[in-house]
Amino acid sequence: MKAYLVQKWCEPEEMLFTDVEEPLYKENEVLVDVHACGVNFPDLLLIQGKYQMRPTRPFIPGAEISGVVSKVGSKVTQFQEGDKVYGASFLGGYAQKVSVPEKNLYHIPQGMSFEEACGFVVTYQSSYFGVIVRGQLQAKETLLVHAGAGGIGTSAIQIGKALGAKVYATVGSEEKIEIAKQAGADLVFNYNDSTWSKKIRKEYGGVDVVIDPVGGEILEKSILCTNFEGRIVVVGFTSGKIAQVATNLLLLNNISLVGLYWNLYFMNFPEKIHEAVDDLHLWYKKGITKPIIYKTFELKDAPLAIRTVTQRKSYGKVVLKIK
Ligand SMILES: NC(=O)c1ccc[n+]([C@@H]2O[C@H](COP(=O)([O-])OP(=O)(O)OC[C@H]3O[C@@H](n4cnc5c(N)ncnc54)[C@H](OP(=O)(O)O)[C@@H]3O)[C@@H](O)[C@H]2O)c1
Repeated sequence: MKAYLVQKWCEPEEMLFTDVEEPLYKENEVLVDVHACGVNFPDLLLIQGKYQMRPTRPFIPGAEISGVVSKVGSKVTQFQEGDKVYGASFLGGYAQKVSVPEKNLYHIPQGMSFEEACGFVVTYQSSYFGVIVRGQLQAKETLLVHAGAGGIGTSAIQIGKALGAKVYATVGSEEKIEIAKQAGADLVFNYNDSTWSKKIRKEYGGVDVVIDPVGGEILEKSILCTNFEGRIVVVGFTSGKIAQVATNLLLLNNISLVGLYWNLYFMNFPEKIHEAVDDLHLWYKKGITKPIIYKTFELKDAPLAIRTVTQRKSYGKVVLKIK
């Protein structure tokens, strides 16, 4: 089968596009014919050897996939050949086949395309845990989502709307304002205008929960527009900067600054993950949590797909269409 191999820590363009043996599958694993694979910001860091997880080389990147079940291990009970599935592979998705533990897979809901489904794992579940579990967003509250046109951004906006909250978003360009609105944001601010935080506080009532995948000064300024007992959720650092937080400002308004590492829920709390999947599927059926796809790329163009994500060109999800 065709796959992208990382043999040494390298740039995406230096990965090897080659023929490799089909993966073996264990008794509790499912062999999936990959139809689509989500491209994520951390894929670049993983290939460069700069991510918190450093897999043994050689390895195939690709954390979230969708496809059709080709073979099942002897202890698999929930899936059979021909089922349409999506799930978290963590590695191995940039290939025509991947073996995935049964517990990491879900049936694709009716009406959902393979391209939509592959983005429904890491991105949507992370946003769910950010907004609901760590942020504790309530129906009558206001949510602020930074980088509101990105993968986390668009999905967090949709989840905020699903809960019945008012949702504000920030983005880094005029074109992305429309995308955040399309995802459901009630108001969108361009964070290149340095007054966004002041405006939100003075003119739009402040916010109760902040989802921040950007970091740096975006997080620092968020404290200024967060209301009494508000929650700021640290999701990522796409700006490349870690915020220097003035903790006195947290104290002055009883604000909580909390972290999110979705992986830990995925690994250790399967019952919470099932709850999240049920809610996300229900909202998908209602048309609320619908992935926005920027572009699909062929497998051979994976390096370009990664650059498109990390060079801030894309919005929503970038997807490798493999079959
Ligand atoms: N904590 C967790 O468990 C968890 C789970 C999943 C993802 N994440 C993290 O969340 C972050 C966002 O993921 P995503 O899938 O939403 O990525 P994405 O779709 O690429 O969106 C990231 C957005 O960040 C903004 N950005 C601001 N400064 C940037 C810069 N210097 N370079 C690139 N982008 C910049 C861009 O929006 P504008 O152009 O509008 O500024 C970009 O669209 C990543 O860091 C990822 O690792 C964390």
